[in-house]
Amino acid sequence: MPRKPDARWLLLGASGLVGTHLRAALAGRDVAMTYHRESVPGGMPLDLADPEAVTRVVRDTRPDVVVVAAADAFVERCEREPRATRAVNVDALRGVAAAVRDALLVVFSSEYVFDGRNGPYAEDDPTAPINEYGRQKVEVERIAREAPEHLVLRVSGVYGWSRARTSFVAQLVDKLRRAERFRVPSDQLVTPTPAPDLAAAIVDLVDQGAYGTFHAAGPEILERPEFARRAAAAFDLDVALLDSVPTAELGLAAPRPLRAGLRTDKLRRQLGHGLPSSYEALRAMRRDEPAG
Ligand SMILES: NC(=O)c1ccc[n+]([C@@H]2O[C@H](COP(=O)([O-])OP(=O)(O)OC[C@H]3O[C@@H](n4cnc5c(N)ncnc54)[C@H](OP(=O)(O)O)[C@@H]3O)[C@@H](O)[C@H]2O)c1
Repeated sequence: MPRKPDARWLLLGASGLVGTHLRAALAGRDVAMTYHRESVPGGMPLDLADPEAVTRVVRDTRPDVVVVAAADAFVERCEREPRATRAVNVDALRGVAAAVRDALLVVFSSEYVFDGRNGPYAEDDPTAPINEYGRQKVEVERIAREAPEHLVLRVSGVYGWSRARTSFVAQLVDKLRRAERFRVPSDQLVTPTPAPDLAAAIVDLVDQGAYGTFHAAGPEILERPEFARRAAAAFDLDVALLDSVPTAELGLAAPRPLRAGLRTDKLRRQLGHGLPSSYEALRAMRRDEPAG
């Protein structure tokens, strides 16, 4: 059943990449928001590592929809600091889920729940994470599925602007503009996902009353160097500054699922359309670059 347009939303992590674009997609709606270190207008400070504060924020705002875009989302940090990152990514979500009564719980997962041996994957393919980030995401999914109503959104390679300019494309653009070389894994697939369109799709899914697990990602599964070339070209930057390097030579702590990739047929069926191609979305990203 479609959700009422006057639903009250609680957006945890409104200052991050996904949160920034969700804020824009939810403009004019009834939304309470939290940030951690980077304040956002009208937002409340919240540290997910503080269980009492988490419960208080959910109880006080009495939301119909809770979106947990807050996370310690760095794969390498999860591998090196499993306890600290688990407290934020998994334990805090348990606290959110316990405080949420009959609200829809929306959480983010990743293609890293798969081992990357024989992707691309559909929503119901068996999970087999090969690093700590992926193991935490499997737990995130399990906690969400125990809630009365949930949306588990698996995303991959989200790109767009945020204040911290942390997305792959933002980092690539910033480096190439300084005429610095940029290393790209030569052996990893990615399903690039434009953040503004991801945010719009999430709002549509919620409004439609959709629930369950969705691969909320762009329509193309690409080799990372190909996506990097498309990004450099879209911003008229020098593709010769890109270096393709095998993942094994990048000195990473966390093993990567190399041949993953997310099939998005279910999302397309639900929405009646897919997300835009990387050509189109990269052009829009260049057009929408914040001044300064
Ligand atoms: N980006 C991707 O390509 C990608 C791919 C797969 C899955 N995902 C998942 O999608 C979700 C959103 O990712 P994102 O790219 O938007 O991440 P992000 O840009 O790193 O944003 C993280 C958000 O979490 C907040 N946060 C961090 N530590 C916190 C803490 N201890 N307490 C409260 N809030 C805290 C940050 O607040 P401050 O900025 O205010 O400190 C920020 O709002 C995550 O679950 C991530 O794992 C992302």
